[in-house]
Formats: sequence, C-alpha cells, structure tokens
Amino acid sequence: MSGRGLFIVLEGIDGSGKTTLRDRICAALTSMGVTAIPTAEPTKGRIGSILRDGGTDNPYAEAFLFMADRACHTDEIIGMVEDGRTVVCDRYYASTLAYQSAGDTPVDIDLLKDLNGRVTVEPDITFLLDIDPETGMGRVTGRGEDISKFERLDFQRRVRDRYLEIAAEKGFVILDASLPQDELLSVSMEYIMERMR
Ligand code: TYD
Repeated sequence: MSGRGLFIVLEGIDGSGKTTLRDRICAALTSMGVTAIPTAEPTKGRIGSILRDGGTDNPYAEAFLFMADRACHTDEIIGMVEDGRTVVCDRYYASTLAYQSAGDTPVDIDLLKDLNGRVTVEPDITFLLDIDPETGMGRVTGRGEDISKFERLDFQRRVRDRYLEIAAEKGFVILDASLPQDELLSVSMEYIMERMR
C-alpha cells in the first residue's frame, strides 16, 4: 500500500443507509490497522452549520452554500488523504448534482457540474446506495401518509433517477441498498481492498 490514504464516498437518497455503512466500513478498516476517518456533508463547519440549521429557501443560494461547504471540506480531505488516512465521506459532489437539479426550481446541472469541478477531487471510489424511494422514506418517517409525503416521494424519485444517471456517467459502484447490512459491508470492502492493493 502507498503512503496515501483512499478517499471513499457514499451517496444515496434519504434513508438509503449511508451513515450506517460508512461507520461499518470505518470500523472494518480500523480493525485492519488502517486509519479511517468518517466524515459527512453538509459538514459541522461554519458553512455546513447554516445548511444544517435549515439552509435557505433560495435554490441558488442553497446550491452555492453546499458547494462552499464542500470547497472547505475538500481542503481538509486532501490533507488527511495525503497524510495517509482513509476518508469515508457521507455525501459529496453527486449529492448537489442530484438534489439541486431535482427540485421544483432546479439549478442547471451543467452549472452545478462546472462549479463542483472547481472545488472537488475525484474520490477513489464512490458507492451509490440505490433504493426504491418508498422503502427509503419508510425508513426515515415510518408509515404516516399525507400529501406532503407524496410530494417528498416524488422528489426522492427524481433524485434517485439523477443519481443513477450520474453513477453511469462517473463509474460509481451501484449497490442494492435493500440487501442485508452484512452483505453491503462485505461487497463494499471487496471494492475497497481491491483499490488498496
Ligand atoms: P444528510 O445530513 O445526509 O441527511 P440526514 O438528515 O439523513 O443525515 O443531508 C441533509 C440533506 O441535505 C439531505 O436531504 C440531502 C441534502 N443535500 C443536498 O440537497 N445537497 C448536497 O449537496 C448535500 C451534501 C446534501
């Protein structure tokens, strides 16, 4: 293994199980003696906190905030990876491409690609945890059904479609997020071990 760490990203709609898988990947790497750092976007930094506190109603302002947060986070990620640590990140640029282009007032995806391209590095591996939005939403909210739930479901469906397009374009590893956790861990670790060789 070289002195550089890997940069691994997990993407997917809400309720796809990214955070659980991220933490299990980090635990598996740690048990092998690899220094693994879990992280996420929006970050807990100053700009990420604005987004975590509810963001803004203006779709452009919100997109720019996600990317501003990412610009700062990317500097930190590069530092850690160059230092030999492996970074496992819950969401990265594909989240902005998928979510901010799928809203009622979509931001042009080519603009998002251009701006993201200036503030990101290409991860060594991106896993897309693909799941049917109804299953994902069920995991998030339980079984209550109302109009806004259907609106949200419709949005999640558009986000999922965008993700699948981006995954095909960028060569992401698509995982069936409805599989049991242990299986998801072993499949993702196979890809990671392959990259470490
Ligand atoms: P996240 O913290 O992953 O959600 P959770 O509350 O499940 O932990 O992300 C919060 C929301 O932000 C999520 O709905 C996706 C959205 N998001 C974007 O719309 N664009 C982005 O670039 C990112 C990073 C997140």
